[in-house]
Amino acid sequence: MVRKASMKEQKIGASEVPILLVSLGLLIFSLSVNGQNMDDGFISIDCGQEKNYTDTATGLRYVSDFDGFVDTGETHKIPTDMEQYATNQQGYHLRSFPNGIRNCYRLLVDENKKYLIRASFMYGNYDQRNNPPQFDLYLNVDLWSSVDLRGRSKTHVFLEISVFASRNWMFVCVVNTGLGTPFVSSLELRPLKDDMYPLVTNNQSFVLFQRSNVQPIRNETLRYPTDIYDRFWIPYYSKSLETLSTESKIVQCTACLKYPAPMDVLKTCGAPIANGSDINITFQWPLNNITSRKIVYAFHYAEIQSLTTNQSRNFSFFKSFQDRSSGPFKFPKYLTATYLHKPTPVQVSIDFFYMTFRKTKNSTLPPLLSAMEIYEVKQTSKLISTGKEVEAMMEIKKSYKLEKNWQGDPCAPENLIWKGIKCRKFSIVSLNMSSNGLSGKIALSIRDLKQLENLDLSNNKLNGKIPHFLSDLESLKFLDVSRNNLNGDIPEGLKIKIEDGFLNIRFEGNPNLYKKSNKIVIIIPIVVITLVIIAITVIVVVIWKRKRKLYGRKRIIESKGRGSFRLPSFSSNNKILTYIDLINITNDFDKIIGQGGFGTVYHGTMNNGIQVAVKHLSVASSQGSKEFQMEAHLLTTIHHKNIVPLVGYCNEKDHLALVYEYMVGGNLKDHLSGSISSLTKICWRDRLRIALEVAEGLDYLHRGCKTTIIHRDIKTSNILLSEKLEAMIADFGLCKIFENNDAMTHMSTNVLGTPGYLDPEYRKTHKLKEKSDVYSFGIVLLELITGKPAVIKNADEDYILLAEWVDSIHAQGDILAIVDPKLNGEYDINSAGKALEIASACTPSLSIQRSSMHDIVTLLKECLEIEITCGTCKYISSDFMANYEDEMITGPTIR
Ligand SMILES: *[C@@H]1O[C@H](CO)[C@@H](O)[C@H](O)[C@H]1NC(C)=O
Ligand SMILES: *[C@@H]1O[C@H](CO)[C@@H](O)[C@H](O)[C@H]1NC(C)=O
Ligand SMILES: *[C@@H]1O[C@H](CO)[C@@H](O)[C@H](O)[C@H]1NC(C)=O
Ligand SMILES: *[C@@H]1O[C@H](CO)[C@@H](O)[C@H](O)[C@H]1NC(C)=O
Ligand SMILES: *[C@@H]1O[C@H](CO)[C@@H](O)[C@H](O)[C@H]1NC(C)=O
Ligand SMILES: *[C@@H]1O[C@H](CO)[C@@H](O)[C@H](O)[C@H]1NC(C)=O
Ligand SMILES: *[C@@H]1O[C@H](CO)[C@@H](O)[C@H](O)[C@H]1NC(C)=O
Ligand SMILES: *[C@@H]1O[C@H](CO)[C@@H](O)[C@H](O)[C@H]1NC(C)=O
Ligand SMILES: *[C@@H]1O[C@H](CO)[C@@H](O)[C@H](O)[C@H]1NC(C)=O
Repeated sequence: MVRKASMKEQKIGASEVPILLVSLGLLIFSLSVNGQNMDDGFISIDCGQEKNYTDTATGLRYVSDFDGFVDTGETHKIPTDMEQYATNQQGYHLRSFPNGIRNCYRLLVDENKKYLIRASFMYGNYDQRNNPPQFDLYLNVDLWSSVDLRGRSKTHVFLEISVFASRNWMFVCVVNTGLGTPFVSSLELRPLKDDMYPLVTNNQSFVLFQRSNVQPIRNETLRYPTDIYDRFWIPYYSKSLETLSTESKIVQCTACLKYPAPMDVLKTCGAPIANGSDINITFQWPLNNITSRKIVYAFHYAEIQSLTTNQSRNFSFFKSFQDRSSGPFKFPKYLTATYLHKPTPVQVSIDFFYMTFRKTKNSTLPPLLSAMEIYEVKQTSKLISTGKEVEAMMEIKKSYKLEKNWQGDPCAPENLIWKGIKCRKFSIVSLNMSSNGLSGKIALSIRDLKQLENLDLSNNKLNGKIPHFLSDLESLKFLDVSRNNLNGDIPEGLKIKIEDGFLNIRFEGNPNLYKKSNKIVIIIPIVVITLVIIAITVIVVVIWKRKRKLYGRKRIIESKGRGSFRLPSFSSNNKILTYIDLINITNDFDKIIGQGGFGTVYHGTMNNGIQVAVKHLSVASSQGSKEFQMEAHLLTTIHHKNIVPLVGYCNEKDHLALVYEYMVGGNLKDHLSGSISSLTKICWRDRLRIALEVAEGLDYLHRGCKTTIIHRDIKTSNILLSEKLEAMIADFGLCKIFENNDAMTHMSTNVLGTPGYLDPEYRKTHKLKEKSDVYSFGIVLLELITGKPAVIKNADEDYILLAEWVDSIHAQGDILAIVDPKLNGEYDINSAGKALEIASACTPSLSIQRSSMHDIVTLLKECLEIEITCGTCKYISSDFMANYEDEMITGPTIR
């Protein structure tokens, strides 16, 4: 009694005719499977059955649920004399869940695909209590259906839902509502085509209400392999209908692929007996207090009789018997199936839904109907834990073989949050595994609980060291590892946090833990912990900026001279990404946007929608790898408004990548050469501002970090522009950090850099100084003034350095001939003259004659002031003035 079973108290049938319901009886297994892989992706689980087997009726392989799908519950078999009432052999065994409120099966699926999931329940008095239970069935965190088996000992109940998988697993959970022990007899998962059921989306699903084959010849349910999606088509018979059938092939109309019906279902249909005019169908939902629901329907029909010239079949449809209006009419096409359907859900506010098909006046033949599908549309919840955290919790549970009743989504729904955890906004902020008999090392997966603030592992048998990764948990405020068997020292990263007051730790009762610093020992009675955490949060906010600034400087100094490079274990803005993350971010390295110093640069989008540029070192060359390390190291430790922000990095063995914020404005070189559209042509004042911003960035590198960083490759193609045309210095692959700023003023290196920008003194002497950057900056400034590249071809087709060209013209005193003609004279001649002076102060061949970046910044600010008071510029960003004034007072900001 499949249909009746799944719909509880419902009545289905013509209004005055007894309802005829049909049990599955024999399942058809007529065809051999011709496409070998038609059942690709099917998961068929016979719950509580310990053997795998091939189902004789369908030819489908059913597997036992003993390994992997579920880790709680007891297995049972219904008595042999009850087997006859089960629809199929999957009803014989079951898994019951006497312990815990929520128990879940976990099904692995493909993300962003649609699936049909069917669960069945055959009580069969398996527990000899004659007391069928009532419980709730959930898919992930949403109530799928209530399962009411009371009074239905001999009924095999099937429930079906079609869903969109927004993660690569799904939980099917039974929840004890206090009315008996929940159980499951079988679980089936069938992939659907992407274009099927378009209303099944990431925020709504279809719960099957009814799927019927109208008036088939044989009283049997059709499913796989007749229906390649293994949907059940239950016979629907009515006394007022007669069966029409054909042996001819019926095709689905080309626009009808969203609700496909199998051909064998379409080959038979029902029509009113004795040339009656109507097909009346009533659907009644179970009586409950739900007053409103959204449904979706598809009524399938096809003309299966060959009509003579004086015959016609036309019919209208009405959603109520009383409706007499002549609605739009339909006529079925010969041997072509189509369906009646409304592309938006229909709101139904009563327990009944009627459908009448009535022949039109001029039609000689009555309506016909092959099949019908009715679904209730349910919203799916977005309020679920992040996938990474769920995975992490599953791993933790597995690695410690926890008997805890941790099932389904950790943080949702609210009344079923896992024991020992606390959540905020569906993220785990507290994990208490105190006194759980944990043994082995501290689980690595804890590192994926990024929002964790409170971790209690006390009073277990944990051994090994306190792992480094705990210092990556930026929010961690309280860590209790006391009364274990840990050894070694407390990791450096944690010590710093403890000293800085970000973290409280308890570690007493670990005899082998090395205690070096008595500063660290901060033991706080559990009673006041909560208060302290609140206090710390407040304090952290207050001291955050100051601490962080100092911290950044400390790190740079620390990592100097260590030789080997280590990514900073603590950096507030940067994310460690995996190669898989990179694939997701870049859509599988889909869009190349450039060729960087040591790899290809791809466009990408982070989960939060931020556009990024991903610089990927594809082949592990030693030089490239060195440059990568340098750049990663630098950008994770320095922050300035004119240095391109690093969003994250990937440091896996064969995949090194840096992820920066994507600079929508492109690079300065393209702007100046005019290869970027004229709309964003930069005016004189923008050019001065960009020069100032680059200068400020460089000044910060040279002085701002208490250690001198030399970029070594300043050029217009390494200056990127944000949406508002703010300049950002990029590409730190060649950069050098001075060992000790006080003792040394230069270092000897291999000469690296770009022709045209290369400091002549450095080229000669191989002695690198910060003034080398000043020279390169001077060239950039000249490019901004002249609009010409760093190396130009003169009239004689000779290559000549821009600096030399400018000198030669300047010697003749002709400023107007130097300034970029593309500016159309829209600049203040005084500020242009001053800018040229500044450039000259940068480009003497002797470094000692060059100004420092700090002086250049001051000069450029003055120069810009002249222009701001006199010139006009339509491209200047509106909030620039405000920023500019800020800068004058505070100097470079450290983010
Ligand atoms: C179809 O079969 C079921 C049981 O197998 C029976 O209850 C029902 O009356 C049958 N219907 C018809 C129309 O034969
Ligand atoms: C059943 O099949 C699954 C995979 O199809 C396999 O992992 C499992 O070991 C099998 N179980 C038995 C009892 O053969
Ligand atoms: C469901 O998601 C779609 C986009 O996928 C959106 O357009 C629609 O408004 C959402 N509906 C609801 C009820 O949230
Ligand atoms: C139904 O009507 C058609 C013509 O309209 C006729 O040929 C046929 O015999 C009628 N069938 C019955 C059962 O009255
Ligand atoms: C419907 O609501 C009434 C009162 O609000 C309650 O007494 C009754 O049990 C409810 N029925 C169902 C089926 O929930
Ligand atoms: C339909 O037309 C055929 C001839 O084309 C005729 O023999 C038949 O009687 C007609 N039937 C009806 C119901 O008019
Ligand atoms: C369908 O319902 C209408 C209106 O109640 C009634 O007149 C008609 O006889 C019904 N037809 C059938 C076949 O039940
Ligand atoms: C029905 O047929 C009559 C004549 O046979 C015609 O005048 C009328 O327009 C037709 N009605 C429709 C809705 O086609
Ligand atoms: C009925 O359907 C036929 C096609 O089968 C069409 O040619 C005819 O115009 C329709 N007549 C009426 C009255 O709707």
